[in-house]
Amino acid sequence: MAYKLLNGKDLAARMKAEMSEEVKRLADNGITPGLAVIIVGNDPASRIYVNSKKRDCAEVGIRSFEYALPEDTKEEELLGLIDALNQDEAVDGILVQLPIPGHLDEAKVIRRIDPSKDVDAFHPFNVGELMIGKHAFAPCTPAGIMELIKDAGISVEGKNCVVVGRSNIVGKPMTMLMLHANATVTVCHSRTQNLKEICKSADILIAAIGKSKFITSEYVKEGAVVIDVGINRTPDGGMTGDVDFEQVCDIASAITPVPGGVGPMTRAMLLKNTIKACNMHKS
Ligand code: GUN
Repeated sequence: MAYKLLNGKDLAARMKAEMSEEVKRLADNGITPGLAVIIVGNDPASRIYVNSKKRDCAEVGIRSFEYALPEDTKEEELLGLIDALNQDEAVDGILVQLPIPGHLDEAKVIRRIDPSKDVDAFHPFNVGELMIGKHAFAPCTPAGIMELIKDAGISVEGKNCVVVGRSNIVGKPMTMLMLHANATVTVCHSRTQNLKEICKSADILIAAIGKSKFITSEYVKEGAVVIDVGINRTPDGGMTGDVDFEQVCDIASAITPVPGGVGPMTRAMLLKNTIKACNMHKS
């Protein structure tokens, strides 16, 4: 069966073009959205992500402010920086790149961000708002997946959606967004029994596991929509997803590639959330 490739790279480019126009309109009114990105320590993957986020901001006309703090930064210092950014009118969004070094209390750090500037939507206030469906922001990866599915004309209502992974960043918020879109949602994780059978019942299967090519053809129903959130680095510097694309593409009706699927959508949604925060603050 021919499958539809859910091309996140193309959709993200279209969204960025639209966002550039919106940022120009804001500029006509003397308004420039600003995103502060805080990185603590020297994690190479985090450095790559932060550089991409800054580049994305520049592309659409959002100002970005990088705060690169040393590995041994004291918690009080990081919290003090967040306090200052909370007060700074040039800053609409604040993002602390995760993970942060172990001596820093991640939950405490996230709670310090003004919820109206929490463009990752990790603050418990925004998590709660998402739960009741009143959210201003949704976490970027699940929000990007919803956009990708919608753009492809795939309806979610009444469908069986299986989410594999229960992280606060992807699995849990993905579940809430699918539920708000009237899907019937099952959340699976490392302790789930009969994982294969449950996955095989999915009309929409979302793999956020963190294990390269874990989802093989045995996990997928004929005609299912398969979304691969995995970013697994290979020793040769390449990247694989959580889905064995070569096997699964012949069974799926639609599938995301890795790279070029969910990743670019995550980045686009960060820009969208930042512009939204700017509109909330300044218009
Ligand atoms: N680290 C991995 N993914 C993310 C993300 O979406 N936001 C932040 N702040 N850190 C991350």
